[in-house]
Amino acid sequence: MEMKRLLVSFVLLWLATVAAAAPFAILKSLGRGHRMKSLYEFEDGSGFVADLEVIQHTDTYGPDVGALRIIARYNADEQMHVHITDSSSSRWEVPRDLLPRPSALETSLQAQSSPQRQLQLSYTAEPFGFAVTRIATGETLFNSTPPAHPSEEAAFNSMVFKEQYLEISTQLPRNNSLFGIGESTRPDGLRLTRGRTYTLWATDMAAYTVDVDLYGAYPFYMDVREGGATHGVLLLNSNGMDIYVGQDLLTYRVIGGVLDFYFFAGPTPLAVIDQYTKLVGRPAPMPYWSLGFHQCRWGYDNIDDLKDVVESYKKANIPLDTIWNDIDYMEACKDFTLDPIRYDEKKVRNFVKELHANGQQYVLILDPGISVAYKDYITLERGLKENIFLKNEFGNNYLAQVWPGPVYFPDFLHPKADSWWTTEVRDFFNKVPFDGLWIDMNEASNFCSGNQCSFTPESLTVFANKSDSSNNECVLQCVEGASRFDDPPYKIDHVGKYSSIGDKTIAMTVKHWNGVLEYDAHNLYGLSESIVTQKALTTVTQKRPFVLSRSTFVGSGAHTAHWTGDNKATWEDLKYSVASIINSGMFGVPMVGADICGFAGNTTEELCSRWMQMGAFYPFSRNHNAIGTIPQEPYIWESVAESSRKALGLRYRLLPHLYTLMFEAARSGAPIARALFFSFPEDHNTLAIDHQFLLGSSVMVSPVVAPGHTTVDAYFPKGTWYNLFDFTKITSTGEKHTLAAPADTINVHVHEGQILPMQESRLTSAEVKSTPFTLIVAFGESSYATASGKLFVDNGVDQEMEVRDGSSTFVQYFAERSSYAGSLVGRVISGDYALAQGLVLQNIKLLGVSHSPNFVTVNNNRISSPKHLNYDKKPSCLEISGLNVTVGRDFEINWHADGLRLASQ
Ligand code: NOJ
Repeated sequence: MEMKRLLVSFVLLWLATVAAAAPFAILKSLGRGHRMKSLYEFEDGSGFVADLEVIQHTDTYGPDVGALRIIARYNADEQMHVHITDSSSSRWEVPRDLLPRPSALETSLQAQSSPQRQLQLSYTAEPFGFAVTRIATGETLFNSTPPAHPSEEAAFNSMVFKEQYLEISTQLPRNNSLFGIGESTRPDGLRLTRGRTYTLWATDMAAYTVDVDLYGAYPFYMDVREGGATHGVLLLNSNGMDIYVGQDLLTYRVIGGVLDFYFFAGPTPLAVIDQYTKLVGRPAPMPYWSLGFHQCRWGYDNIDDLKDVVESYKKANIPLDTIWNDIDYMEACKDFTLDPIRYDEKKVRNFVKELHANGQQYVLILDPGISVAYKDYITLERGLKENIFLKNEFGNNYLAQVWPGPVYFPDFLHPKADSWWTTEVRDFFNKVPFDGLWIDMNEASNFCSGNQCSFTPESLTVFANKSDSSNNECVLQCVEGASRFDDPPYKIDHVGKYSSIGDKTIAMTVKHWNGVLEYDAHNLYGLSESIVTQKALTTVTQKRPFVLSRSTFVGSGAHTAHWTGDNKATWEDLKYSVASIINSGMFGVPMVGADICGFAGNTTEELCSRWMQMGAFYPFSRNHNAIGTIPQEPYIWESVAESSRKALGLRYRLLPHLYTLMFEAARSGAPIARALFFSFPEDHNTLAIDHQFLLGSSVMVSPVVAPGHTTVDAYFPKGTWYNLFDFTKITSTGEKHTLAAPADTINVHVHEGQILPMQESRLTSAEVKSTPFTLIVAFGESSYATASGKLFVDNGVDQEMEVRDGSSTFVQYFAERSSYAGSLVGRVISGDYALAQGLVLQNIKLLGVSHSPNFVTVNNNRISSPKHLNYDKKPSCLEISGLNVTVGRDFEINWHADGLRLASQ
């Protein structure tokens, strides 16, 4: 209705400049921006639609798009949407079937005036610019109008909108902290570095190459202002781009698509991620077993190697949930095949059967390239029949080269790719009942570059009998293209910048379904493959799918887990992995880990030991290394085995907590591994903590990240923290503490106010699942203190992960204590899974209880046996054991020291 009115009453307004924004420092060659030609303001004050025209055309970076339309609107979800595109013809946008979201028009029609509005929009008419302000504080969060008095640094152009070049900047205050924008490896730590350009272009570049574009692309950042108020900005655009983060400005330089901005009001970091993942997709829940430990390597030459590894883990008493196969299992590196000698089908089936009988899993790799070098390859034949391969500019299947030699790449945007891929997955699953799929090389990685490639039969001899997969030299004959897509007018700063952006990937003129150009869809290849793979696994296994993808994009978390790619066995890479996993969580992909002990190069005993300790607390915890490197399974060295048993022991005890965090992630996007500032945004010091992280809101991991150290200097935000191994206490006012960290020890602490559900450690997560529960209740030191926590349990494989009667249990815990008395209650919100499974709570550990109680009741029954009560003055810990309380029922526990009860009781 409103829109209709808008269309009929669209008044042409020649507007004078409404703000005194002098067009200072505009680069002459890029014109003077746009002026507003017509404007319609929504009646509810939530935004406007306007037509813009170029003030002065220029040729730099190609022709201007003459007429633009902007729809800028606040909607009900603490979110502002600003969409700018060509008003006369449609341009490439991230497809809605990959990333479902309301269109700009729908957003306009649906928008309601919300009394909760947190953001406000304003504009200047000439040169055109818009600003987003936080209503509560009046603070400007984003402002694309060039500043009236720019600093020396600022080359701040008004918006530029050309065929293949979009530029827009925002003013920045100097005292804020910016996070996000990826994917890249960050030696500087978590905070974005002022003065650096971040390039977003999915690239098969080893993750040990720092400060360059890597496998995924996330044009999303979080901005923490002084005092802690945080907002988020997403530019939903899949084209290649540079994002320059300056002292006073942030500039996007994008080589296509549209300007599609979403502003998330926060105001806390968690609220920003909640609002962002509500738009781009909540993280997919992963199976419970995937939180167990994983062992992989490139170079398990045959099925007996795998058997040995699984056996050796068991012998060494180190937990192992899942064993992985890299491309070694394939016949000549062909997807959906088994090498008939090394990975004999019958043997593999028996092996997987045994694994499953032991509560363990098997995950396999798949690469997107489908070999074209061999006859009678059914996967290729069916793909050709369905015609689902990418096409070169002449309409032929596009030829590239990866491990199996010459390949065609499936077009995962093709409507039939889905059913073709599902058929392949199903057929292979019927041979080998794997539990998850690992999709690699999907940037997509190509060992050749060129629009048109061919091969001769002679060149194929290189691939014959190649089982070590080490050959990545291009043997195809290729012609490189020189079109405006191969060689766009603006060169993003990508790592292959000395050649074309199509270097070692799919050529830019290659066509996807419906004529979509690789140039536009390049960054989406991993996302589209993840979607199709997730669907295929769900259809075939009828279980909650587990997919691990190397290349990701905004929204990938709804379909896949992620690992940070090819790191190196160095102390630097161990250290950098903390920022990488925290970033992935911020991008909406919380199930993430780095290759533990290092992928490339030979690890060392000490490094591997420290990495096993840290990696035991990555959300996705997998040891993986490259072909040709020394074995690095943790049982290889006794010291590594020892520290792995200790660290993984705690991980496995924390599984109920981790699984509850997974549930929270699926509901609200909350990262599993978080930066310290997520829980302590008002503590300025936490913004610079790069080598510690939180699991959830209150469990802090403080790893050793350098050789030869037996202590670690760890920052402790304000409050009381308890060591989860020995319950010793640290009380901090917000400072660094030097902690003992002998070779077998990692420091993990829980913050006051948290109730942590734990179980007993076992060698698989399946075994842990039925063990008795313990609650760790961490009180602060004041005379009155409270704590709370949650527990979610279900069977771990149902497709949905939600609070449902019959199939899950969700409990909330609350505790309070005064000086002499206290209580702990469990309130079952919904579901009776725990009842059906007979899960029991056996122990509670009350930390920060300063007097030994003489009276304890459980559901009003006094515990009379002293053997069930243990008070330890040193860590002021009261332990109550032998509880036998049913996890699926409400309960109440009271204690008091001298007959006094809490005032509230
Ligand atoms: C590249 C991946 O990043 C790595 O993890 C894998 O081992 C190799 N490809 C071989 O498949």
